[in-house]
Amino acid sequence: MNPPGPATRARVLPVAGRGEEIPEEDVVRECLRRTPPHLPPWLGYDAVGSDLFEQITELPTYYLTRVERALLERHSPEIAELLAGGRIAELGSGSAKKMRLLLESCVRLRRTTYLPIDVDEGMLRSSAAELCSQLDDLEVTGLWGRYEAALDWLRDHTGEPLAVIFLGSSFGNATREERDGLLHEIARTLKPGESFLVSADLDKSPEVLESCYNDPVGYTAFADFRLNYLTRLNDLYGADFVLDDFVPDACYNTQTSTVEGRLRARADRTVSIPGLGVTLHLPRGHFLNVGYSVKFDEEGLAREVGAHGFHLRTRWLDPEARYGLFLFRRDESSPSR
Ligand SMILES: C[S@@+](CC[C@H](N)C(=O)[O-])C[C@H]1O[C@@H](n2cnc3c(N)ncnc32)[C@H](O)[C@@H]1O
Repeated sequence: MNPPGPATRARVLPVAGRGEEIPEEDVVRECLRRTPPHLPPWLGYDAVGSDLFEQITELPTYYLTRVERALLERHSPEIAELLAGGRIAELGSGSAKKMRLLLESCVRLRRTTYLPIDVDEGMLRSSAAELCSQLDDLEVTGLWGRYEAALDWLRDHTGEPLAVIFLGSSFGNATREERDGLLHEIARTLKPGESFLVSADLDKSPEVLESCYNDPVGYTAFADFRLNYLTRLNDLYGADFVLDDFVPDACYNTQTSTVEGRLRARADRTVSIPGLGVTLHLPRGHFLNVGYSVKFDEEGLAREVGAHGFHLRTRWLDPEARYGLFLFRRDESSPSR
């Protein structure tokens, strides 16, 4: 009998609404009521947003993707040995281009099921099909929805040892409160001895960070990506944002070690968002926040993740210590359980 073809090894399952997941509208409404108002990262990733993010990864000043890819090219065989899991779940998998490097090493060692998790269904389907056509024997079950719902699905579908992977320094896109909530869910999902691999961008000078998170002359990927959040609010919730009324940029907040992606109102603006029952007042010069990117120090990250019942097993940094991959192992007991 012929081995199963790529099409039969790739599937995508919707997981939205599972477990204690808060409805999308409630999350967006709550974020808009904060000071300053902000928008959750997942809102920006429709097909247009995902494509713009891919363009960002290719900007000459955006070092993160290139450095992470180099780390994975170099260390994937060792990481795959240490993961020791037949099931590899990835939070916010996107195009999964870098993940392919790690999966290549995994399938050489053992039968592997990859469980990419993302809100962009189109990206999940295309990356699943592409990976299965490139890697014989790989099984892919894409989980279409937000992290909490997908982790809930994973808790209900046990099997081979599981590893949770979080690449692209996306962990830093959440606030401290959101990161604690997510770590709690990850800790509840992994059994003692299982692995959590997370990448983080390390703190560095404001000049480097601001040049990384703003468009170089002649490019518009970051600006378009940030403005796409307003298009999403208009499309999903009937908002009346006029894109030209807002100036996109990014600024490094040294107090919080966070790059803040912003949309600044050119003049006093009142925007109605009927689908959320929200009216937003933005005085001239005030910002709507459309993306946090927290910069970590190694000890702080180990402490933060460690507080949820993990210990740092090992980590890999690039030669200039700009960026790291951190491998944690789930402890026997944890305050999160
Ligand atoms: C910054 S991109 C990183 C993509 C890829 N991991 C990489 O390293 O290039 C973040 C990805 O996470 C997805 N995402 C963001 N927040 C999410 C959430 N709460 N639940 C599911 N997917 C999410 C987005 O759709 C996007 O594909």
